[in-house]
Amino acid sequence: MKIIIINGPNLNLLGKREPEVYGNQNFEAYFASLQEKFPQTELTYFQSNIEGELIDKIQQYGFSFDGIILNAAAYTHTSVGIGDAVKAITTPVIEVHISNTFARETFRHHSFISPNTKGIIIGFGLQSYELALLSFLKND
Ligand code: DQA
Repeated sequence: MKIIIINGPNLNLLGKREPEVYGNQNFEAYFASLQEKFPQTELTYFQSNIEGELIDKIQQYGFSFDGIILNAAAYTHTSVGIGDAVKAITTPVIEVHISNTFARETFRHHSFISPNTKGIIIGFGLQSYELALLSFLKND
């Protein structure tokens, strides 16, 4: 099974960025632990701070991979373009968030991505990614 994790802006700063909200672990270390835990799964990781690059990756992987785990970060709440890209592809997308966006500012309560996803997992810290992965593997 081929799964790509796509992370949006500022998630390259995990471990340094607002640790009280996002925790102390950087994503590369977490990703390596996922690869160790799920050796049968072909896991790919991409992060960008640039909206168009995220759209390019969604298009690139969105017709051949078995699943996309997408944390579009702040673009979740602003990007019609990323929402449209998720709608355009055939690969199922699970939207994840590290923090519980509904317990935060109201501008974080709306997502342009959710309507076109298979499902959403919000607020479980980095474990949100593993829960999304488990969901894809269960349908394998
Ligand atoms: C986030 C939540 C977003 O509101 C925020 O802009 C992020 C991270 C999360 O994973 O909790 O950058 O997507």
